[in-house]
Amino acid sequence: MESLLRSYWNLPVLLFFSLLLWKTFGARAGADSRPNILILMADDLGIGDVGCYGNDTIRTPNIDRLAKEGVKLTQHISAAPLCTPSRAAFMTGRYALRSGMDAIKSIRVLYWLGGPGGLPPNETTFAKVLQQQGYTTGLIGKWHLGVNCESRTDYCHHPLNHGFDYFYGMPFTLANDCQLGEPPEQSAALRSQLWFYTQMIALAVLTVAIIKLTGLFSFSWKVITSLALFGFLFFISWYTSFGFIRYWNCIMMRNYDITEQPIKVERAASLMTKEAVSFIERNKKGPFLLFVSFLHVHTPLVTSERFIGRSRHGLYGDNVEEMDWMIGQILEAVDKQGLQKNTLTYFVSDHGGFLETRKGDVQLGGWNGIYKGGKGMGGWEGGIRVPGIFRWPGVLPANTVIDEPTSLMDIYPTMIHLGGGKVPQDRVTDGHDLMPLLQRKVQYSDHEFMFHYCGVYLHAVRWHQKEVGAVWKAHYTTPVFSPKGAGACYRKRMCPCAGEQVTHHDPPLLFDLSRDPSESNPLSIATEPQFDTIIKRIEEAVEEHRKTLTPVPLQLTWWNNIWKPWLQPCCGTFPMCWCDQETENRHSHLQEIKD
Ligand SMILES: *[C@@H]1O[C@H](CO)[C@@H](O)[C@H](O)[C@H]1NC(C)=O
Ligand SMILES: *[C@@H]1O[C@H](CO)[C@@H](O)[C@H](O)[C@H]1NC(C)=O
Repeated sequence: MESLLRSYWNLPVLLFFSLLLWKTFGARAGADSRPNILILMADDLGIGDVGCYGNDTIRTPNIDRLAKEGVKLTQHISAAPLCTPSRAAFMTGRYALRSGMDAIKSIRVLYWLGGPGGLPPNETTFAKVLQQQGYTTGLIGKWHLGVNCESRTDYCHHPLNHGFDYFYGMPFTLANDCQLGEPPEQSAALRSQLWFYTQMIALAVLTVAIIKLTGLFSFSWKVITSLALFGFLFFISWYTSFGFIRYWNCIMMRNYDITEQPIKVERAASLMTKEAVSFIERNKKGPFLLFVSFLHVHTPLVTSERFIGRSRHGLYGDNVEEMDWMIGQILEAVDKQGLQKNTLTYFVSDHGGFLETRKGDVQLGGWNGIYKGGKGMGGWEGGIRVPGIFRWPGVLPANTVIDEPTSLMDIYPTMIHLGGGKVPQDRVTDGHDLMPLLQRKVQYSDHEFMFHYCGVYLHAVRWHQKEVGAVWKAHYTTPVFSPKGAGACYRKRMCPCAGEQVTHHDPPLLFDLSRDPSESNPLSIATEPQFDTIIKRIEEAVEEHRKTLTPVPLQLTWWNNIWKPWLQPCCGTFPMCWCDQETENRHSHLQEIKD
């Protein structure tokens, strides 16, 4: 009785504490209703390479599982057909040319880690907005949006300066040059640039020497000899440049620290997987944004031994299957931490498969299914239509297919809204919030027109005419395939966007993708009575779109896209740049265990 009385007496106190508890945890629960965001981006993967998109011989059970438990988009379009511009648009929700990340000249991606081009610091990525909203943000894998502006360590374009709390991966991209014994992709360009510097310095030495000898100005011979020595250094670098790229471009970083220079490609997959799993474990309390940007399935298709020879499609297939396995490991970590229900998972490829990459007759690039063209081609569907899958159990319907046109740029407003943030209002954003469409609350996507760029050149326009259910696509410019009719530019490494190697169409080539997704039968006035009206409407849209473009500093100009020694990230004393902290760490770790 006494005890009962006492507890009765305690009732108000109890009540007060319960209220306090409810307040704290209630508020916590409110914050936790924002999902974790897990983005899985493949590099150069074709839409035809994935099981749930109709490939019956490559095994991608983990990607397929995402589709089964979520929403699969069949008309998911990247903003550009190449890594750098597509990723710039992805991170900013804007066409790449709005941030100056698309090129006028032939090199349409960042070519050097030691170059000044990159995603401008005044662009606001969705990672940055989510970070401001209290998300813990991590990027694991490929960046390829620049590092430095003016000095070796200003990191103006670095992921940590663009909204990521944590970065582990390649600030550049995987390329053949990163693996010994592969035919180099970039060395030729490096050589020509080093040769250029050598010539310039030689010219300067000569000029200065002549001025001195004629007695116009007096210089000490010291100046001239140092200049000549400097030139000699470039000459030597030019001479020995084969193999240098591995040191300049192929590095791994953890935050601002270089962990491997050059990267040991064979272990990148397992290190990245471990990093992703550990990020999820560390941040299970959430909310977090984890962007896993795979080095797969870019050449040189570095694949672990256990996957070699496993697929039915050679090294390429093995590489795809290994990536799927990595995805499986990451999804397992999500499950293990009990995060499945409050994690929005998104799988995507940065653009279409790379048709031109072959070794002899063996295809080393992706397969774009029924779609024409591939990586590097701005207009043809194969370069820009990619797999896109969203899973969020309990919020998004399972096993659902949506055919509406959607864009990789839609991730920007979608993620920002989910994180409780605001899309910047002082600039044009091209993406639209996808949640209403994914949740089946609306029937149509908000994209009426999409503009398909090749570099800064507008090659094609898509018009989703909802009332009649048509998806028109008008091509103003298309690449000239070589050999003719081959479906790709096999004689070159990639199709160009302008110049001799493109065909201009007036009137434009018109297709209705809803009836002719592989763009094989161009329409004419004879076959499409509305032909002129459609072209006119599209032209008006182009006019409107052009009005929204403002000139910005270009990031991929020749000068911004050459190697500059003073911008080269370097582990050690330049030019002696090399380190391998992974091995050192492992050794010291072993030492600790022994001790
Ligand atoms: C599956 O992918 C492989 C490798 O890219 C490709 O060769 C094959 O044609 C694809 N199969 C189908 C049915 O699309
Ligand atoms: C970023 O700065 C450049 C150069 O000053 C400018 O042209 C551009 O409009 C700015 N972008 C944004 C989003 O403010």
